[in-house]
Amino acid sequence: MLHGKRILLVIGGGIAAYKCLELIRRLRERGADVRCVMTASAKQFVTPLSVSALSGDRVYDDQFSLTDEHEMGHIQLSRSADLVVVAPATANLLARMAQGIADELATTVLLATDKDVMAAPAMNVRMWEHPATRANAETLRARGVRLVGPDDGDMACGEYGPGRMAEPDAIAAAIEAYFGAHAPLSGRRALVTSGPTHEAVDPVRYIANRSSGKQGHAIAAAIARLGARTTLVTGPTHEPDPAGVTVVRIESAREMLAACRAALPADIAVCAAAVSDWRPAAADAKIKKNGAPPSLALTENPDILKTLSEAGNARPRLVIGFAAETGDVVAKAGPKRAAKGCDWIVANDVSPGTGTFGGDDNTVHLLTAEGIEDWPRLTKAQVADRLAARIAAALGPAE
Ligand code: CTP
Repeated sequence: MLHGKRILLVIGGGIAAYKCLELIRRLRERGADVRCVMTASAKQFVTPLSVSALSGDRVYDDQFSLTDEHEMGHIQLSRSADLVVVAPATANLLARMAQGIADELATTVLLATDKDVMAAPAMNVRMWEHPATRANAETLRARGVRLVGPDDGDMACGEYGPGRMAEPDAIAAAIEAYFGAHAPLSGRRALVTSGPTHEAVDPVRYIANRSSGKQGHAIAAAIARLGARTTLVTGPTHEPDPAGVTVVRIESAREMLAACRAALPADIAVCAAAVSDWRPAAADAKIKKNGAPPSLALTENPDILKTLSEAGNARPRLVIGFAAETGDVVAKAGPKRAAKGCDWIVANDVSPGTGTFGGDDNTVHLLTAEGIEDWPRLTKAQVADRLAARIAAALGPAE
C-alpha cells in the first residue's frame, strides 16, 4: 500500500501516455497522493482535464505562469513529492534528462528535484535500441534513476520488440517495492518455483501434469510484496506474471534447475513447482505411427528442492518444499522433509475430491523442525500471505 505517499508524476508525450490515466487510478487506489506535471507534447495525447479528474488535483504544465510560480513554484513542486515518476519516459524525455536540459516545466522539475526518480521508458523498438538512447538510459541508471521496463510486445506503431511501456500494475508494484525499503523482507532475495514441467517425447509431444501454478505464483507475489527481490522460475501456466517479480519461463525440469542455479544466491527458496519426476529420451524427429506403439524409457529428473537444500555455501538460508500427497498427508510429508533436506514442508492433499490441483483453495499443514501446524482451508492467496509472513518472522530484513 502507498498510504500517504506523495508521488509527482511527470507525463511525457508518447502514445503510452493514455496508460498514465490507469496508473494514476492504481496509485490512488493504493492510497497515494498523485500530483501531475505534463510536457507540452503529452497534452497532444491525453487531456489535462482527464489527468486532473483522475488525480483530483490540477495539472502543472506552465513554467512561466506567474500565478503558478506564486502558488507552487517549480522548485517547490520538485521537492513536494516522496518520489518522482516519469511515465511514459519517451526517447526525447530521457535524452533531455540525461543532458540536464530544462526547456519546459517538466524537465525543469526533473533537473531541480532532490528526490529519487523512477522512469518507465516507452518508445519504438528502434528508438529504444539506438545507441543514443542506450547511452542516455545508462547515464540515467548510473545517476540512480530507477528504470521500470520497457516490456517486449506489440507496439502501437505495428512493430514488435522491447520499448513498450511497463503496464500500470507493474509500475505501481515497482513504486510499492521502492517504498517497501523498510518492508519485512527488504534486502532479502527469494527464489520460487511454480507450475508443471513439460518433458519432451519428441518435437511435438510432451509429458506434463495438472499443476496450474496458482499457489507458486501467489507465493512469489506475496514474498515480493514484503520487499524481497523475488525470482519466479515457472513452467508453462496460464497465470499472469505477478507484479514486481522477475519471471523466468522454462519447460523442462533440467531447464528449471539451471534457471534456479542462475538465480542464486538467495536467502529464501520456495519449491512449489510440480516437477516431473521422470523424462523420456526425447526423439529428435516426430515419432511416426508405424507398427507397434513405442515404449518410453524414462530417466529420473534432477530433484531441484534436494539440490538447493544440499547446495553447500550456495544453500538459501530457508529452503521450503511442498509435499503433494493423496491421503495420509502429514505422515508422508514428515519423512519427505528429512529426505529432501529442506527446512519446512508445506503439505497438502491433492486427492481428486479436494479440488486443490487447479482450484483456488488449499488446506495445508506446515511442517517445521518445531512441529506441525494445521492451517484452516484458505484461498491460495491467503496461504501465500500467511507463508510469506511466517518467512518474514523467521528471517526478518537483511542487516
Ligand atoms: N521437487 C523438485 N524436483 C523434483 C521433484 C520434486 O524440486 N524433481 C520438489 C517439489 O517442488 C516439491 C517437493 O519436491 O517442493 C516434493 O514434491 P513431490 O512431488 O510431493 O515429491 P517427490 O519428490 O516427487 O516424491 P513422490 O512423488 O515420490 O512423493
